[in-house]
Amino acid sequence: MQDILEELEARRNQARRGGGRKRIDAQHAKGTLTARERVEVLIDEGSFEEFDMFKSHRCTEFGMEKTKYPGDGVITGWGTINGRIVYVFSQDFTVFGGSLSETHAEKICKIQEMAIRNGAPIIGINDSGGARIQEGVASLAGYADVFQNNILASGVVPQISVIMGPCAGGAVYSPAMTDFIFMVKDSSYMFVTGPDVVKTVTNEVVTAEELGGAKTHTSKSSVADAAFENDMEALMEVRRLIDFLPLNNREKPPVRPFFDDITREERSLDSLVPDTPNKPYDMKELILKLADEADFYEIQENFAKNILTGFIRLEGRTVGVVANQPMVLAGCLDIDSARKAARFVRFCDAFAIPILTLIDVPGFLPGVSQEYAGIIKHGAKLLYAYGEATVPKVSLITRKAYGGAYVVMASKHLRGDYNYAWPTAEIAVMGARGAVEILYRSELGDPERIAGRLSDYEDRFANPFVAAEKGFIDDVIMPRNTRKRICRAFASLRSKRLSNPWKRHDNIPL
Ligand code: HXC
Repeated sequence: MQDILEELEARRNQARRGGGRKRIDAQHAKGTLTARERVEVLIDEGSFEEFDMFKSHRCTEFGMEKTKYPGDGVITGWGTINGRIVYVFSQDFTVFGGSLSETHAEKICKIQEMAIRNGAPIIGINDSGGARIQEGVASLAGYADVFQNNILASGVVPQISVIMGPCAGGAVYSPAMTDFIFMVKDSSYMFVTGPDVVKTVTNEVVTAEELGGAKTHTSKSSVADAAFENDMEALMEVRRLIDFLPLNNREKPPVRPFFDDITREERSLDSLVPDTPNKPYDMKELILKLADEADFYEIQENFAKNILTGFIRLEGRTVGVVANQPMVLAGCLDIDSARKAARFVRFCDAFAIPILTLIDVPGFLPGVSQEYAGIIKHGAKLLYAYGEATVPKVSLITRKAYGGAYVVMASKHLRGDYNYAWPTAEIAVMGARGAVEILYRSELGDPERIAGRLSDYEDRFANPFVAAEKGFIDDVIMPRNTRKRICRAFASLRSKRLSNPWKRHDNIPL
C-alpha cells in the first residue's frame, strides 16, 4: 500500500516538474512565471483541483514516443477566485514550447465543456509555440475543437484570455473569440503571421513587439483589452475583473459589501460642465464620483479614448458604464469608439449587467476616411447593441446630445428605462452655429442678425426641457444628487423583464 501511495506522489512530482529544471530556469530568466506558478497566483490558495495531470500525447512520429511529459504541456482544472468557481487552463512553455497536441487540446476542451455545463467562467493562460509540429493535422483538429467550444461558450460563461508568451498563427483565434484579452508588456505577442513572413510577403520590417505586442494590441488594433507590466499584475487584475462578473448568463452579477453612502452628495459636480460649450472636461471624474468607493475597472483604456467603457459598482452591484469623453475628439462617435462601445454593451447584455450611459456627444465624426472605412455600418453596431439590449438601461445627458448620436446613445427611443439630464444638457439636431448657418444662409453676411439667430436657437434648444416636455427625458436632475438618483433608478429596475421577439439569432451589421 505504501508503495502505491509513494508512486502516486512520485508521478505527481514528475508532472509538476513540467519540462524540467533547465527549461523552468529559462522561463524565470525571461522574467515570467511558469504555467503552474501562474495558476497558483490566479486561484485562491489551496483551491486548485487539477485534471488530467497524467495525460500524455499519443504521437509516434519523429520518435515522439520516446519523449513524453505527463500533462502534455497544459495544466487544467478548476479552483476559486475569492470563493467563486472558475475553470482554468495554463499552457506550459517548458513542455514542447507549450505547443498544442491532440491530447493537449482534449484537456482544454474538457474544462471548456465542464465550465459550460456547470456555469462558471473559463480563464485561459496562453504561452505556446502553436500547433505541435510533429502531430500535423491532428493538432489542427485539436485547435478547431477548442475554437468550436469557444463559440458555444460565448454568451454562456465569461471567457478570459491572458496572453503571457507567444500566440501566433491560427492559435490567435481562440483568444480572439473570448470576451476579454489581457497581455503582458514585452513578453507576449499575438499575430497571424510573424515578422519573417511579413518581411517576405510585403517587405515590411517590423519586430515581434511592434507587430503584435501588448502596446500594439491595446492602442492600435484593439485586439486586447488591457496591457500589464508583468505576469503577477496581469493575474491580479484578472482576479479583480472576475469579482465584477456573474459566473454565467443565468446568474445575476455578484453583490459585494460596499462602504459608500448611496445618498452621497457631490457638490463639485454642479460645476463639472464648463460655462463655455466647447471647453472639454474629464468625464472620468463623473464616473469616479458616481462609483462605490471610486472604483472603476476600465476596459480598453488606451483605444478609442473618445469613449470610456468599464465596470463600476453601485450599492455593491456591478454596472457597465459607457461614457463619451469630451477630452478626446470632443467626445464624437467614430468607427473605433462605436465598435468598442458596441462590443461592451453586448457583453453586458449577454451577462445581465445593467448599463449606465453618460452622454456628451456632438455627433458622428465627419470625414472622408470615416465614410470610406464604413462609419455607417460601424456606427450601426452601437445603435443595434443598445436597441437589442434588454438589461436595465439608465442614461444621463450632461451636455451635448446632438443628432443621430443622441438617438444612438441609449436614448428613450431605444427602450431606455430612465433617461436623465443635467440642467446643462443641450438636446438638438445639431449645435447652434451649424443649425443657423443652414437655416439662415441668406443672412450670413450680416453678423448682427446671425448673432440674434444664434441666441434664439440657443434659448430654444440649448437646454433639456424641449426633450423633457415630450417625455424623452424623464427628469432633469441636480448634478450633485446624481449618485443617489442613479442608484435609486437601478434599484428600482432589479426585477425588470423585457425580451425580444423569437429569432434563430440576430444579424448585427458586422
Ligand atoms: C513542437 C515546439 C513548437 C511547436 C516550439 N517548440 N514550438 N515543438 N511544436 N510548434 C519547442 C522547441 O522545439 C523547443 O524545444 C521548445 O519548444 C522551445 O522553443 P524555442 O524555439 O527554443 O524557444 P524560443 O526561442 O523562445 O522561440 C519560441 C517560438 C519558436 C518563437 C515559439 O519556438 C517558434 O517559432 N516555434 C514554432 C512556431 C510555429 O511556427 N508554430 C506553428 C504555428 S501555425 P526544446 O526541446 O529545445 O526545449 C499554428 C497553426 C494553428 O499554430 C492553426 C489553428 C487552426
